[in-house]
Amino acid sequence: MMERTFVMLKPDAMQRGLAGEILSRLEKKGLTLIAAKVLQLDDKILEKHYAEHIGKPFYPELVNFAKQAPVLATVWEGVEAVKVVRDLVGATNGRKAVAGTIRGDYSISQGCNLIHASDSVDSSKREISIFFQPKEIATAKRELVDYIYSKQEQG
Ligand code: RTP
Ligand code: MG
Repeated sequence: MMERTFVMLKPDAMQRGLAGEILSRLEKKGLTLIAAKVLQLDDKILEKHYAEHIGKPFYPELVNFAKQAPVLATVWEGVEAVKVVRDLVGATNGRKAVAGTIRGDYSISQGCNLIHASDSVDSSKREISIFFQPKEIATAKRELVDYIYSKQEQG
């Protein structure tokens, strides 16, 4: 099933100059980048984006970290994209994330873990609508689609 997922490169990824590297991994997998913008987060947008974490002990630190520097908000498309991206990202804590995953290879922290990725199709729809208007998301057919998926998978 073709899905969209929301991916945000957090302030540490941007400050450390890892954005290109991380985007490249997702691109090489075969996922399609269909929207992107650099922005500075504030309390209002973070209350929406991290609504499920409001009240948790780590929430204040999470919000302060997310506001520390600009982020890159993106939307990706692909078959089962939500799970595919979560698997590429790895476990929340960079010290526990398996080598070969983005966090496993580039993060040694739970807070500074480089990247956010939607955890379900429902979350992805909610998160995409917080950061992007429909007209900001590209819908053109990908010309190489027949070389990335079999015909059956495109259905
Ligand atoms: P994300 O939402 O950022 O993709 O990460 P995730 O699903 O792997 O982790 P989640 O449980 O949704 O937590 C959101 C972010 O909060 C920070 N966190 N800190 N100190 C702590 O116990 C703790 N737990 C989570 C992490 O930066 C995590 O990515
Ligand atoms: Mg999460």
